[in-house]
Amino acid sequence: MTVVETVETPGAGSDPRASLQTRVFVVGAGIMGSGIAAQCALSGYRVTLEDVTEELARRGLDGVRGALDRAVRRGGVSVADRDAALSAIDVAIGLRRADSAQILVEAAPERLELKQGLFRELEAIVPPTTLLATNTSSLPITSIASGLREPGRLVGVHFFNPVVQMALVEIIPGLLTRPETVEAARRFAASLGKTVVASRDTPGFVTTRAMAVLVNEAVWMLYEGTATKEDIDAAYRLGFHHPMGPFELADLVGLDTVLSILDVLWDGFHDPKYRAAPILRSMVAAGRLGRKSGSGFYDSPGTAAEKKPPTP
Ligand SMILES: NC(=O)c1ccc[n+]([C@@H]2O[C@H](COP(=O)([O-])OP(=O)(O)OC[C@H]3O[C@@H](n4cnc5c(N)ncnc54)[C@H](O)[C@@H]3O)[C@@H](O)[C@H]2O)c1
Repeated sequence: MTVVETVETPGAGSDPRASLQTRVFVVGAGIMGSGIAAQCALSGYRVTLEDVTEELARRGLDGVRGALDRAVRRGGVSVADRDAALSAIDVAIGLRRADSAQILVEAAPERLELKQGLFRELEAIVPPTTLLATNTSSLPITSIASGLREPGRLVGVHFFNPVVQMALVEIIPGLLTRPETVEAARRFAASLGKTVVASRDTPGFVTTRAMAVLVNEAVWMLYEGTATKEDIDAAYRLGFHHPMGPFELADLVGLDTVLSILDVLWDGFHDPKYRAAPILRSMVAAGRLGRKSGSGFYDSPGTAAEKKPPTP
């Protein structure tokens, strides 16, 4: 049994509506899950967006609407396409409805035991040919797959925030991931119009490792009194042509996610350059998680639901 023969992902350039019979099940309706759902629906998939409570799933759907509305405002997506995408998405509470999915993308919080438990549960629910993808930004794919009967089915498919806007997808095979699983993941990413880079399964892969160090160094500079956060942000933006500064980026990504990533890098490499700045840890303890909680390094206006997923 191979995944690639059975996952019906349209190739890049094919009619995206051809995939209407292909169902993507997205686990976790947070910042990333709602963006992934929006992108998949725009590319012609049927999507089920899942979370643990009705309220969270509904909030995820608000996130989808926000992402699609922004895509219309930026141009390139018509109102008719937005409405078609919205009508292709439904929500679910719990994993049971993953039984009709050809593609599964997990976007639950960045905790190894949580993701391992979810995939163990999901393996018993999904059809044997379903592509299993995790959107982890730092956890080893090999470890996430370690409890599976068939670890070769799981692959890292790492999207970027905000998903509809960002062209990149990082694909990370674990040690036991089958080549046909990787190929199916590549076709899936291409069908969403994304460019793929491949990374080996090392902590943080390519992009997350780079991002975490960039943000952490800025937080250490703030801690040491080198400059204000506003000046550090301006220095990164204007000095290096970054679209946003490191504190703005941390607020966008979520401070809890940034901290989890640094802890994964520390556990994986035991290199002091990955030691999380103390301010980051105390802000997470205080619930100041960035835009998704209403405030982080900066206060942001509006409700938390309106802010997710945000436009930089
Ligand atoms: N935030 C980013 O910029 C970003 C970028 C790339 C990848 N990622 C990765 O994507 C994943 C999700 O991150 P996020 O920022 O969307 O987090 P988030 O906190 O915004 O969303 C996570 C969602 O998962 C839900 N959830 C929790 N337990 C669950 C369970 N057992 N089953 C189903 N859903 C559950 C939560 O209720 C929440 O809605 C993480 O692995 C993260 O590392 C995040």
